[in-house]
Amino acid sequence: MLTASRGYPYTLLLLKLLPLKRVAVPRFYTLDNSSSTSGIECYRDLQRYFNRRVRAAYLLYSAVPNFSRVCSLHHIYYIDTDGVYRIDKQNADQSPDKVLDLQQLFKKGGSEQKQHVPWAVQRIRVSPQEKHLAVTLKKYQSEEQRCVIISLGHGPLFPLVQLEKVISFEWATDDVLYYTTLNGLRSRIAFRLDLTKNRTITSVFEEPKLDVFVEVAVTRDQKFLTINSNSRSSSEVLVLDKEDQSQEIFLVQKRLPDLLYHVEHWKGSLILLCNYGPEQEYQVVQTSLSKPSFDTWQPIYCPPSGFTIKDMEIIADFCILTTRTPSHRIGLSVMSLNHPDVLYTLELPSWACAFEARKASAQDKTNTLEFLISSPVHPPLHFCLIPEKGLILSAEGNQNSTDHLNTITTTRLEARSKDGTLVPITLFHAARLKALDKVPLLVHVYGSYGRDLSMEFSPKKRLLLQLGWALAYCHVRGGGERGLSWHRQARREGKLKSVEDLVACVQHLFSSGVSSSTVTALTASSAGAIPVGALCNLHPHLIQAVTLQAPFLDVLGTMMDSSLPLTIEDREEWGDPVENTSHRLAISSYCPLHNITPQRYPSMLLTAYSADSRVPLRGIQNYAEKIQKAINSHLSLIPESGCEHKPNVVLNIQPGENHNGQEDFDLMVKEDALELAFLYTELRLDLPTHLRRKRRYSNVNPTSKE
Ligand SMILES: *[C@@H]1O[C@H](CO)[C@@H](O)[C@H](O)[C@H]1NC(C)=O
Ligand SMILES: *[C@@H]1O[C@H](CO)[C@@H](O)[C@H](O)[C@H]1NC(C)=O
Ligand SMILES: *[C@@H]1O[C@H](CO)[C@@H](O)[C@H](O)[C@H]1NC(C)=O
Repeated sequence: MLTASRGYPYTLLLLKLLPLKRVAVPRFYTLDNSSSTSGIECYRDLQRYFNRRVRAAYLLYSAVPNFSRVCSLHHIYYIDTDGVYRIDKQNADQSPDKVLDLQQLFKKGGSEQKQHVPWAVQRIRVSPQEKHLAVTLKKYQSEEQRCVIISLGHGPLFPLVQLEKVISFEWATDDVLYYTTLNGLRSRIAFRLDLTKNRTITSVFEEPKLDVFVEVAVTRDQKFLTINSNSRSSSEVLVLDKEDQSQEIFLVQKRLPDLLYHVEHWKGSLILLCNYGPEQEYQVVQTSLSKPSFDTWQPIYCPPSGFTIKDMEIIADFCILTTRTPSHRIGLSVMSLNHPDVLYTLELPSWACAFEARKASAQDKTNTLEFLISSPVHPPLHFCLIPEKGLILSAEGNQNSTDHLNTITTTRLEARSKDGTLVPITLFHAARLKALDKVPLLVHVYGSYGRDLSMEFSPKKRLLLQLGWALAYCHVRGGGERGLSWHRQARREGKLKSVEDLVACVQHLFSSGVSSSTVTALTASSAGAIPVGALCNLHPHLIQAVTLQAPFLDVLGTMMDSSLPLTIEDREEWGDPVENTSHRLAISSYCPLHNITPQRYPSMLLTAYSADSRVPLRGIQNYAEKIQKAINSHLSLIPESGCEHKPNVVLNIQPGENHNGQEDFDLMVKEDALELAFLYTELRLDLPTHLRRKRRYSNVNPTSKE
């Protein structure tokens, strides 16, 4: 589901890995005037060192498998930093054609000089018979997007049309494109572009409700185009038969409160993933194309208790469900649609934490599901599932990246929260579990919008593991890890449960012999900052440092102002403090900004983006100022505090509208390096050994082998 939120990017991870030239010089400052330069200066040497380590880590893993290639009738299309290329399937050894040249597209005047183009290709869609190509581009440090349509016919390839602000797009035929646009983080209209009729654009669907996000998609078999209108708690889907020339769009089921559903097609019937039923958890139902409404839905699969469905793919006559097992592992349940009672389950390796299925394109093998599995410290491995045979095959190219499997341990723990609920924790470590009592620990959390904590591969996390850290991922309520009820329990009045869960997780890690307060840091981004900020107010001694990216810390102030982007959409999540007293009291009880008191806070690194429309900068600045004041007034009250290590609050404001971190490779490396330098300084960790050596013999290359 594609919605705008204070959450993770829905853009390709690939964007983060593109090495590009520098575009802007970042600005740093700390709020404490007495240490305005030393606040950041004290990290400089280490930052320079980590710059090299982080860069080397990203480059080492720059060729991990991904699914950005698209196979069409005659060619394979792929994305590179400077545009889109294609290879002829018949003559694969010929050099690739450049189909879209970003330099050319953004060329100013007659300048022949190569200039830096601050745009990246996001996604590509080839029309069914390969007549046209549609490409979306995103501007760096901006929410600005556009779609370029290229004629692939005979003769030279050239951009035909440019559409502004396109966020989702699919071809219905070779000449008809459906798309939606993003305006002020909202997407409420589906458009139809007809390239045969003077390129006319018509609006085909308009959603009146402000908290609904509209996107277009296609079913896996490419036969139907869907217009999906989802709010945070309900859905409405329109379906269009791509092969029907009259192109009548029809509604599957009118929006009902708290009914979420997603549509797939199989042999003239619709297969839906929906939360219909007494538990309001996802299950699979079947209905007919001619009469698809709610009263005709036939349940065909309901997961056993403790299992939750995360996603669904239809491959030939099989329905493949990605599930989470009671022991928090990823499983694949394969069901025959001809005989729904025939079902088998495959459990993926215990380290697998993230799963990505290749989205179908028209020319794919129709009996195979390709997928990648990974974890924050395990680079993606590529597999194929043949549902008919119940076989999972390892794809080519995995051999070289499996050596790590023996050196990293994945341990799953459960912490008992205040109300008795067991909260899953995933822990990665290189040393034995029994030998973790002194190692530094980085704890990750999110817990909002029913989204799972991001567990995608990160070269930075992998580097931390190599440096001896343990990494913990706390799957607190408010996220979706244990199903839709995991989210429902911790939204609006229940939000404090996310905080209680996080506190329980950190305490459980310590009592299990993993690390200790003085060498533990918490990290989160966006809405994940809420449980972190609340924990700091309630138990500041539990941890030593905090790093937050684009943090949402002023929940009360933001939700009181309905003119801000996302306030209306987010009432489902945090409640409405203007109209509902009990919501206001709930928000006031945990809002990080409104519960700051004079005490010894952990050191904090807050990274903000000045024009971020999802998280207003003002709230982060207010938070940093109030925390600094609270620390100062606490220290002034305690005479002996002079010898105490003073917590440092660093506000690193970067330019741009980014919410999801830097896209420019150099800036991203720099930001990561500052975070590592900050953690090493504030946790007072010994420097990695060869840095110490390097200081004595400055000619030693720090990127050489460990
Ligand atoms: C296309 O546009 C041109 C000029 O605007 C007009 O003369 C022509 O009739 C249009 N054709 C169609 C099929 O609408
Ligand atoms: C795997 O590593 C070997 C030796 O380092 C190399 O020759 C080979 O090309 C690599 N294979 C892949 C698929 O990267
Ligand atoms: C506030 O919201 C809750 C649900 O979260 C609801 O039960 C209650 O009636 C609402 N109160 C008012 C005054 O609207």
